[in-house]
This record gives sequence, structure tokens and C-alpha cells, in this order.
Amino acid sequence: MSQSELYVSLDIGSSSVKVLIGEMANKSLNVIGVGNVKSNGIRKGAIVDIDATVQSIKKAVDQAERMIGKSIHEVVLGIPANKAVLQPVKGIVAVNSENREITDDDLDRVLEAAQVMSIPPERELVNIIPEQYVVDHLGEIKDPRGMIGIRLEMDGTMVTTSKTILHNVLRCVERAGLEIRDIYVQPLAAGSYALTEDEKNHGTACIDIGGGSTSIAIFQEGHLTASSVIPVGGDHVTKDLSIILKTPTDQAEKIKLEHGHAFFEDASEDEVFEVPVIGSDSTEQYNQKYISEIIGVRLEELFELILDEFYRLGVQDLPGGVVLTGGMAKLDGLPELARNILQTRVRLFTPEFIGVREPQYTTAVGLIQYAYMEDVFYGRVGTGTAAASAVKVEHQEVQQPKKQKQPKQNSEGVVTKAKKMFDRFFE
Ligand SMILES: Nc1ncnc2c1ncn2[C@@H]1O[C@H](COP(=O)(O)OP(=O)(O)OP(=O)(O)O)[C@@H](O)[C@H]1O
Ligand SMILES: [Mg+2]
Repeated sequence: MSQSELYVSLDIGSSSVKVLIGEMANKSLNVIGVGNVKSNGIRKGAIVDIDATVQSIKKAVDQAERMIGKSIHEVVLGIPANKAVLQPVKGIVAVNSENREITDDDLDRVLEAAQVMSIPPERELVNIIPEQYVVDHLGEIKDPRGMIGIRLEMDGTMVTTSKTILHNVLRCVERAGLEIRDIYVQPLAAGSYALTEDEKNHGTACIDIGGGSTSIAIFQEGHLTASSVIPVGGDHVTKDLSIILKTPTDQAEKIKLEHGHAFFEDASEDEVFEVPVIGSDSTEQYNQKYISEIIGVRLEELFELILDEFYRLGVQDLPGGVVLTGGMAKLDGLPELARNILQTRVRLFTPEFIGVREPQYTTAVGLIQYAYMEDVFYGRVGTGTAAASAVKVEHQEVQQPKKQKQPKQNSEGVVTKAKKMFDRFFE
């Protein structure tokens, strides 16, 4: 019998706040609720207005709730990676049980051991991503449970972020009446979802071009190895169009969406449109080729900045190329321009689920997938706990399938501990 688990993700972006309600059954996702609301309180990935952000979150939650007729209680939260720092960590423990079989408990203890690394007071732990386990010097183990050994090691990556940034996001989520189930940095969720296993192994960059920022996630040898955020995104393109065409911002945004093209060589001279001029009743006529030059200049600059980031991050070779996603990835001609400047293979990524077939939803879908995969790994799926905590059902349906609540195997796991830390903040 298949059981389905409900997950709600919250992606607070600088253009819009997205809320997705997903039903996971047999490892496949069904998106049953979507909320998407313009965000007013975020600039370049950082919250600048708490009240406005809270309102946007509430509205997005409300939209998604209406689609399923249930109220949302807990969310998987994606936070910007602006101030995120990734560093390698290692945990070592002696296997606990008498028969030396490695259990959930050992997995928890080794994660905990990796955490003892001192975190500066202005930073907060977000995630520990295990990369490999080593049992008595035998490495590259994905899941050591059930194996026999004396010494268990875990090599992984620790993600920390600025306390200030994190606490402001948490304050908004709390004031929107939501609790947090898990937190991940956005590029981890987006990249883990958008890249194929091969791409992650070979070395590939996932580039999420949003409204106010562009996030880069580098995956090598199967893992997220570096991440960085450039404070340039689609909103800059809109602003450029607004200034140069002397048209209001909302008109510039509309023109970008309807006629925008990133690659001058491929843009059309025949696609002609009228543009209202600020402060007058008149309009001016432009064609796609003309505006593609304006758009291209800004995006060329962005791709140059991306190359600088690759250099700064020490990324010399990307055999898997680049995967583009985020709202701006829908712009015509973007892959061509990216190929031209980055001089590597470029492909677009768009989620394939009904209701969210737009690259702007990659992070939100990725958050659900990532949280689910972690729950599967840590044995939290199928116990009914995830569904019970993810969504508080307001009206019990008459024939709701009964789920047997089983005790959580690792009730005091690291994830739980991290969550406690966030809960502490809410007290
Ligand atoms: N069809 C489209 N063509 C061109 N641009 C688009 C299209 N759809 C959305 N965009 C642009 O994508 C941007 C928003 O992308 P997205 O929703 O991924 O950003 P965000 O997650 O809110 O912001 P950020 O990630 O920077 O915090 C906006 O600049 C918007 O104009
Ligand atoms: Mg985004």
C-alpha cells in the first residue's frame, strides 16, 4: 500500500514568494497547491522590510491553502545563500552496539561529532551534508547502517550563514504563523534537483537567475562543493529597459516578458511593439532587436561576473557545463548568450510537474524533493509523522486513510537538534 506524505515548501525570493504543497507517494511528487505572490520586502536576497515580507508570505500561503482546502502549519524553508559559507567537516565515533552493527544511533552520533567544530558567534549552522561514510577505513559508503565495524567516520560539508540574515527570515516566517520543518540554502535545493546524477559527478554549475540575485551552486563528485550569490538578476534588466525606453517599471517588465530576447544575433527586427512613454500620452515604437541590445548588455555583464565567481571559487573545469534555471531562464536567447560568454555546454532546467512548469519554481520544488530524500534516508517516511506535522488538517475528511503512528527511530537526530535550535529562536 502506498502512503503519501505532504510537504510544503516556502521559497522567499526577491521577486516573489512561492509556496508549494506537494504530495509525495512512492518517490514521485504531485504538486497539489501553489501560491505565488509578488514580494515587496526583499532586495537582492536580503529582507529589508519585515512587515511587507510577512504579508507576502501570508498571501502566498493563503493561495496554496485554498487549492487544497487545508491549512498549512509547517514548511520546508529555503534561505538565500548570500552569506552562506561551506566548509568540510569530519565526524568520528566508535560504533556503539555490542554486536558492532552500525545503527541509526551511530549515524546521529557521527553527525553530532562533526558539529563540534566551533562556529563563530555571528554565524549559525544551517545544514550538515554527509558526503561519505568510512567504516574502519573503508570509504565511499553511502549508507553504513547494517554494516559491521568498530570505527565510523563521516566526511561532509557544513553550511553556516549569517545569524542576522537567518534570524530575520525566521522572524518573518514566525510572524506569518508558520513553523519550520527543515531549512536548506536555496542553491543546495535547486542544484540537487535540477542536476542529473552524472552532472553532479562530473562537475557542473547550476545557475539560478532570479529577480534580484543570481545564485551559483557548483557540484563536483556528487556533492555541492561551492556556492555563491551575485546581486544581479532579472529586475536589473527591467530597470534598464525602464530607464532607456523611458517607460514605467510595470510596462518595462511586461515588454521584457512578452518581447524580451537576450541574444542580439537571433533577435527579430520584425517583432515591433508600442511602448508608453513616462509622463505623456504618447507611445514609441521599438523592435525586439533594439531591446535585445539593452538586455544583452546587462546579461553579458552578469555572465562575466559569473566567470569571475568561478575563478574566485577555484572552479577551473566544468565537464558537465552549466544548467540555467530561475525565473529569468525563460527569457529567449539566454542559453545562446550564456554559451557565447561562458564557452561551455549550457542547458535549461524547468520542473516537469503540472502547475509548476516554470523555471522560477525550481527552488521550491527542490526544497520538497530534498526534504523528502532526507526523510527517506533517515527513515522518517511512512511513519505518518511527516504528513501529520507538515499539514494540519482543519476539517477531517470522512474517509481519511488511517496512518499508524510509529515511534520515530531517531527522535533526537541531528536534524531534530538543528530544528530545536531554530525553535529556541522562536521562544
Ligand atoms: N517568461 C519570462 N521571461 C523572462 N523573464 C521572466 C519570465 N518569467 C519570469 N521572469 C523574470 O524572472 C525574475 C524572477 O525570477 P524568480 O521568481 O526565480 O526570482 P526570485 O526567486 O523571486 O528572486 P531571487 O532568487 O533573486 O531572490 C523576474 O525578474 C522576472 O521578470
Ligand atoms: Mg529565487
